[in-house]
Amino acid sequence: MKTRHKFTTYLLIVILPLIILSFIYWRHLDKSIQKERQEQAEWAGSVYRDYIDQVIGETKKKLELLSLSSSVLYMDDNRTEHLMKWIMDTDPRYAGVYWINMDGVSLSGTNKEFYHYYLIEQADINRAIITQRAVVAKGKALNNSGINHFSIFAPILDHEKRAHGFLLAQIRLDHMEKILNILIPDQTLKLKTSDNIRVLGMNETISRHSEWVDVPLSEVDWTLSVKKPDTLNTNNMNVFLMFVFFTFFFTHMIYTAVEELNVRREEKKQKVLIERQKIDFVGTLAASTAHEIKNPLTGIKGLIQLLVEKHPEEQDQFYYAVIMKEIDRINSIVSEFLILGKPMARDLSIYDVRSIIAELRPIIESEARYFNMEVTWHIVKEPIWVQCTKDQFKQIILNTAKNGFEAMKDGEKLSIRIYNEKDHAKIDIIDIGQGLNEKEIGKVFDPFYTSKKEGTGLGLFVCKRIIESFNGTIQLASKPLIGTTVTISLPLVTKHP
Ligand SMILES: Nc1ncnc2c1ncn2[C@@H]1O[C@H](COP(=O)(O)OP(=O)(O)OP(=O)(O)O)[C@@H](O)[C@H]1O
Ligand SMILES: [Mg+2]
Repeated sequence: MKTRHKFTTYLLIVILPLIILSFIYWRHLDKSIQKERQEQAEWAGSVYRDYIDQVIGETKKKLELLSLSSSVLYMDDNRTEHLMKWIMDTDPRYAGVYWINMDGVSLSGTNKEFYHYYLIEQADINRAIITQRAVVAKGKALNNSGINHFSIFAPILDHEKRAHGFLLAQIRLDHMEKILNILIPDQTLKLKTSDNIRVLGMNETISRHSEWVDVPLSEVDWTLSVKKPDTLNTNNMNVFLMFVFFTFFFTHMIYTAVEELNVRREEKKQKVLIERQKIDFVGTLAASTAHEIKNPLTGIKGLIQLLVEKHPEEQDQFYYAVIMKEIDRINSIVSEFLILGKPMARDLSIYDVRSIIAELRPIIESEARYFNMEVTWHIVKEPIWVQCTKDQFKQIILNTAKNGFEAMKDGEKLSIRIYNEKDHAKIDIIDIGQGLNEKEIGKVFDPFYTSKKEGTGLGLFVCKRIIESFNGTIQLASKPLIGTTVTISLPLVTKHP
């Protein structure tokens, strides 16, 4: 049973929170990893896009400028060819530069092998004529030198803005790939036209669409797709493992603390149980012994009474008086023993505390006079209804007041306060006697604990037993050389006569 309880506690405090917290943290970590992957791919995409856009943009400008100069300056074939060669030689990005007629056929260029070849399609020609700007030809092509490329061409316009030919540059895809790889190595990417024709691909693998980030180009309606990096950062894994470890550590610490508390609570329970058993045992034993003592004691007392009458001499009377006093002392001790054995609080009634105190007041005051002390009373005006047994209640007040007198010196004052606080009646018995230290306070309610020569050590023990049978409490607060306050607390009764 105990192991089962322990296992349940362990499950609730350590295992379940560990699983739940780890799961939540993992989700959080996974989200940030996905975000990081997305951002990395977006960043790579923007770097690649900028480069490709730059190449296309620059080429367009160059071609447009060259077309313009050839028409404005009326450059002849030779000079234009010379310029095309110069562009080709100074820029490694190009596979070739050509002059093309209105049908898309090359007239001259940097590679004679491609003279009289159809280098651009009619649809592309129409686009360039309409826009009168340089355009990117659809799709990639392979020229005779085996170099993959795509083409950009610009119309050569006359004074009436009519196209009468084109200048075309072929962009080397292998060179572009090389540069992209230098910019960010080992990145997977693909470049596709709007018709989904693949222009360029690097380190391509088959993977889900969600694994790619699309970046549109600005210079042409092509799309660059960059794959998100698929390596899980080992750092993240370490962070996760650290989190699991610390969570385990903390939950385990909480578990240990809870277990410790449980053990302490169990010990306390056990202590109370043993105490109760001890009290019951002492009570039964004391009561049965007391009963046996009381009977012969009554007999002895009767006989002494006879002897008192029979021997009137002063000396004898003195002896009898001493014997009687001792018998009375035995009687009072035995009476307290009897209380211990009685089942408590059998005949409870409802009383106004003030009425019981009124009956008790003369007795306490005569006791005070006997000790050569005073009592001051502070009693509220309203009735305070409680449920108790009158005689036993009186005994509690008497016992505690007597303790107060016994603790003080001649002429000192005992205060008794009777009031109600929230739903409880309170009686404070306050003395300014020698007081008690912490260790002594811990023992005052133990049976037979006494510091007095003639004390039984049962007074407070009996008080506690009685008051608990009324569902009340008794507490003692004390400071050495300052004094002691005993506080008795009883639940108030709302329904009263
Ligand atoms: N008001 C008090 N001031 C100082 N010590 C006290 C006070 N009340 C109780 N004590 C201490 O607690 C002990 C136990 O008190 P308790 O009333 O149970 O027994 P007792 O007074 O010694 O004996 P009995 O009540 O039989 O005369 C006392 O011996 C005393 O040391
Ligand atoms: Mg006492």
